[in-house]
Amino acid sequence: MGVPQDAARPSFGMHATGSRNGREPAQEEQAPEPELLPAEAVVDLAAARREAGIDEVLGSLDAELVGLEPVKTRIAEIAALLLIDRVRARFGVTAQQPTLHMCFTGNPGTGKTTVAMRMAELLHRLGYLRRGHLVSVTRDDLVGQYVGHTAPKTKEVIKRAMGGVLFIDEAYYLYKVENERDYGGEAIEILLQVMENNRDDLVVILAGYAERMDEFFAANPGMQSRIAHHITFPDYTVGELAQIGELMTEALGYRFSPDAQEVFRRYLDKRVGQPWFANARSVRNAVERARLRQARRLLEQPDPRVDLAALTTIEPDDLLASRVFGAASDGPSPGSGGVGASIRTGHGRLGER
Ligand SMILES: Nc1ncnc2c1ncn2[C@@H]1O[C@H](COP(=O)(O)OP(=O)(O)O)[C@@H](O)[C@H]1O
Ligand SMILES: [Mg+2]
Repeated sequence: MGVPQDAARPSFGMHATGSRNGREPAQEEQAPEPELLPAEAVVDLAAARREAGIDEVLGSLDAELVGLEPVKTRIAEIAALLLIDRVRARFGVTAQQPTLHMCFTGNPGTGKTTVAMRMAELLHRLGYLRRGHLVSVTRDDLVGQYVGHTAPKTKEVIKRAMGGVLFIDEAYYLYKVENERDYGGEAIEILLQVMENNRDDLVVILAGYAERMDEFFAANPGMQSRIAHHITFPDYTVGELAQIGELMTEALGYRFSPDAQEVFRRYLDKRVGQPWFANARSVRNAVERARLRQARRLLEQPDPRVDLAALTTIEPDDLLASRVFGAASDGPSPGSGGVGASIRTGHGRLGER
């Protein structure tokens, strides 16, 4: 794709740190490598699990994220593989570091970014990633407007992400079918090289809508072949959305009154069929606006005295004033640009109502 040769072989000076996970024979490790276990030794996997702290990460994943069973299963499998790899290495059995580049497909608000952050943490705990941070980017962070701008931009982002996860949201915008001369191709070439050469130090996660990602892979088979895990994030059911709402309100120090709980479910029933519905993100926005209305209600009530219960309870009125129920006078809603506005503010970031 017309990429200059030097751009296609980025080095980043990141290769010199050697083995980071005790997988290879000790050469450049600072700490001396523990002695290899004899063939007849027995290893307690439960203890190995505890030491790695996997259960904490998987446990909090399970407790804090509603649903997503297939996603959780896949993450547990990856954790198991990396743990077993580590134990095998103690016997001197080494295999090539598994490829962990991934693709997360799903509609907006289905938890892709959130899970990517958890993944980064888990891979860090398991010794796969040095740092375990997440750098989230879109096309504009990688691709320049002029000749010669793209390679430095992409390399700078990759450098920041080294040792962690590079999360590329709506990755298909990197590739413009109708325009061969687009600079996105240059960014893709550089990414491909890094995904191959630096895969022991960087995990790339591509995210976006399933169909568009399929098109992207069809046009970029090199990218497809470097992705080891394709993980699908389904839309949440109304029951799951309600549970997510409960978790979010709780985390903010609120609760729904029993009546409000009922109204919230009705709200969700309606909301899922309306424009710009964005799964858990819509739930978060609904909770935020209920919080605003609750505050206004408390200040406007005739009796100005409040107790803890009043301060922490969302009542039906705080939800019923929403436009989702056809209420006309909800006032300008924050972040949506005014009454009646439902604006698309960017890739997947949707205006709410
Ligand atoms: N399964 C879930 N349980 C609880 N909260 C969730 C869940 N999925 C998403 N969220 C919350 O919803 C919001 C949007 O999620 P996000 O990961 O940004 O979605 P995406 O990246 O797919 O658009 C975040 O505030 C996140 O914490
Ligand atoms: Mg996201």
